[in-house]
Amino acid sequence: MNATIAVLKGDGIGPEVIDQALKALHAVEECFGHSFTLQEALTGATAIDAIGDPFPPQTEQICLESDAILFGAIGDPKYDNDPKAKVRPEQGLLRMRKTLGLFANVRPVKSYKQLLHMSPLKPERVANADFVVFRELTSGIYFGEPRGRSEDGSKAYDTCLYSKSEIERIAKLAFQAAGLRGKKLTLVDKANVLATSRLWRETINECARDYPGITTDYMFVDNAAMQLIQNPGRFDVILTENMFGDIITDEASVITGSLGMLPSASLGEKLSLFEPIHGSYPEVAGMNRANPMAAILSAAMMLEYSFNLSQEAACIRDAVETCITEGILTEDLTDSNAKGTSEVGDAVARIIKETQQVGAKSE
Ligand code: IPM
Ligand code: MN
Repeated sequence: MNATIAVLKGDGIGPEVIDQALKALHAVEECFGHSFTLQEALTGATAIDAIGDPFPPQTEQICLESDAILFGAIGDPKYDNDPKAKVRPEQGLLRMRKTLGLFANVRPVKSYKQLLHMSPLKPERVANADFVVFRELTSGIYFGEPRGRSEDGSKAYDTCLYSKSEIERIAKLAFQAAGLRGKKLTLVDKANVLATSRLWRETINECARDYPGITTDYMFVDNAAMQLIQNPGRFDVILTENMFGDIITDEASVITGSLGMLPSASLGEKLSLFEPIHGSYPEVAGMNRANPMAAILSAAMMLEYSFNLSQEAACIRDAVETCITEGILTEDLTDSNAKGTSEVGDAVARIIKETQQVGAKSE
């Protein structure tokens, strides 16, 4: 197939990890006869520095003309400590989500048996962790109006607002995912306090009737935060609103102990974006030390979700798994003989090609 991919490498370690994902995609092109046209565009602090806007119109245009977006990371500490900074990289991220309609953030969390010892939790607790969080991404308290300060500045307010249709469209994706996985969906909310949460519960209850094969349960967010640590294996698909999702996905991301391994997708009606969840990690930017596996696995998610290339996606995932088994690991995953970012990327690309050649010969 031919597809156009917008490549937004962004800030910090974004560029170097995305370069490794591109190596994997080139290997897939070569082995499976596909052709991906890459369109690079600026985003984040890099875009502010270059043109004063973290999500410039040119970048938006390139995204809209593409079939999918591969995203590195945004964020630079020089903007975090400056309360007077007029534009922040994060504003670009929120604007990008809203204008491109990326309403469903999907974060799978799965432990790798070779890496169980990396988890801050007891290995037996995380061994069977295999769940996915569907976080609503373009509404709720992140975007609700009105928001602001009272005239004298002594009060501030935000609005958490949800419409039924916003809940229904992400619920549909989450129920469908549950149908393909463990047939269980947990809505995480705060329905004992919030009106929006009660609307979520009511709506999910209605949607559940269309999916009789799926067990639906409801959990308050404070309890969910606890259960994620106590018994992560109990979850299959977690569905939640924007702010709760922000918090529990960070919590969920450390359960398996390998933040550098976790990919994500932000799905829209027409266009979707794929990014590693680890962020810009400026401390090691440009040092060939970052783990590129999350970015590589994000490229695999892109092949699957946006292009329906599940065999190719599986091939990338298998290659990453082989790398782990062979101990080709960056410093976050091993104390001895750590490899650099680009060595891991080269190894994944090599393994993709090798397994495809072996496959071809045996046919
Ligand atoms: C995330 C981030 C963003 C969010 C920030 C950077 C605005 O924490 O993608 O989870 O809160 O959504
Ligand atoms: Mn977050």
